[in-house]
Amino acid sequence: MHLTSTDRLFVLTGAGISAESGLATFRGSGGLWSGHRVEDVATPEAWQANPAFVWNFYSMRRRNALAAEPNAAHIALAHIEQQLGDRFYLCTQNVDDLHERAGSHRIHHMHGSLFQSRCVRCNQPFPDQSFYDDAENLPTCSQCSAPIRPHIVWFGEIPLDMDTIYDQLDRSTILLVVGTSGSVYPAAGLVHIANQRGIRTIYIGPEEPTNAEAFEQIILGSATQALPTLFETQ
Ligand code: OAD
Repeated sequence: MHLTSTDRLFVLTGAGISAESGLATFRGSGGLWSGHRVEDVATPEAWQANPAFVWNFYSMRRRNALAAEPNAAHIALAHIEQQLGDRFYLCTQNVDDLHERAGSHRIHHMHGSLFQSRCVRCNQPFPDQSFYDDAENLPTCSQCSAPIRPHIVWFGEIPLDMDTIYDQLDRSTILLVVGTSGSVYPAAGLVHIANQRGIRTIYIGPEEPTNAEAFEQIILGSATQALPTLFETQ
């Protein structure tokens, strides 16, 4: 990819970029966990009905993410950020911390962060790497005793800081999307906004996403194959 000195790169990543680090994608694994659809676990309704069950799911995801390492695609994005500085912005739908561990700084987790929790009443996120597997011993707030929940955006909730996302997209000249099926909005709609603004759009992944027709260029390949080469050839 050729970048000029005035280009601004907006990158959107999804579960596919962490697939080669050993973290299962949502649709790739059939969207199932322990026989349940992810959509039935990652919701406010599931939390209301059975918080222990929901904590069990996120404790398992914390364990898996802690055992995983960033791959060449995460590292390639950290390198391009070093070159572009504030002309780079990374918006991820992923809740793992592999981008940060690869060296990314200008990053926004629109669906929340696996290693943060928050009190359902005070709403202040705090760092948390604990596992809550014991239904009799779920965490509560030290200030107000209300339940502590994962700092994750569930289905039916609004992604975090959409204003900044739209603002950053408006200022960019290239939208690069990596490893997302294009089936969850509003993330899947960013390519349509980019098209309205005349922003160049590129998708990288082993198969076409649901919104493939909206992209100017589709590069079929895995993130670790396609991303490092993309930046080498600029
Ligand atoms: P999906 O599981 O829907 O899609 C993963 C995408 O990654 C698919 O399009 C795969 O083709 C692609 N993929 C697989 N292996 C890859 C590789 N090695 N390199 C590049 N791409 C690869 O995951 P998302 O689109 O991220 O939301 O899912 C979006 C949201 O739905 C998630 O953030 C989550 C989920 O439910 C919430 O939890 C709110």
